[in-house]
Amino acid sequence: MDAIKMIEERRSVRKFKNEKVDRETMKEIVSISRWAPSWGNFQVARYTLVDNQETIKRLATDGVDGFVYNINTLKEAKGVAVLSFVKGKSGKLEGDDYATSKANVWEVFDAGIACQTFCLAAHAKGVGTCVMGVINDVSIAEIVDLPEEETVAALIVYGYEDGDHAKPTPRKDVNEILRFVGE
Ligand SMILES: Cc1cc2nc3c(=O)[nH]c(=O)nc-3n(C[C@H](O)[C@H](O)[C@H](O)COP(=O)(O)O)c2cc1C
Repeated sequence: MDAIKMIEERRSVRKFKNEKVDRETMKEIVSISRWAPSWGNFQVARYTLVDNQETIKRLATDGVDGFVYNINTLKEAKGVAVLSFVKGKSGKLEGDDYATSKANVWEVFDAGIACQTFCLAAHAKGVGTCVMGVINDVSIAEIVDLPEEETVAALIVYGYEDGDHAKPTPRKDVNEILRFVGE
């Protein structure tokens, strides 16, 4: 798929068919996601894929702080990726001190790049996604038994989109977000 088309046609998908995405396809999507750039090439992003209804139900009940919009999306979901990252690595060069004033913010930055890479890879494979930031990271970590060294960054609901492709959401005019410095 053409890269520009892929970027422009990805949408947040919140309505899913009653059909699981097979694990081989999801493995392929995560494998593609490995090409995301990362601080120091530390590759701190981790993907915990939940594809059983009981755990997805628990994520809806305890993982999104009662946010009804997300609860409704999760009700339809057949798969949820818990995107996490290994703490305390990104932002450091050698030794234990952070190299820049952003300190550990780079680990969240890395997770963000990994997140979009995952969503684009999924879209290219015909799998819809929706990133969820209104979550309770502590509860989710407990529900999926996340390793102690990791923190939850976001949930990414995934599956085959039901109905027409989601409508595009508005974007700012390019002149609102762009400035050039120079002659
Ligand atoms: C960091 C982040 C957090 C988000 N959190 C939620 C969320 O909790 N629930 C939800 O339904 N969508 C969430 N979204 C999806 C955005 O609402 C969506 O990306 C935006 O409206 C643009 O629409 P599009 O993705 O279809 O282009 C989130 C997106 C990002 C990047």
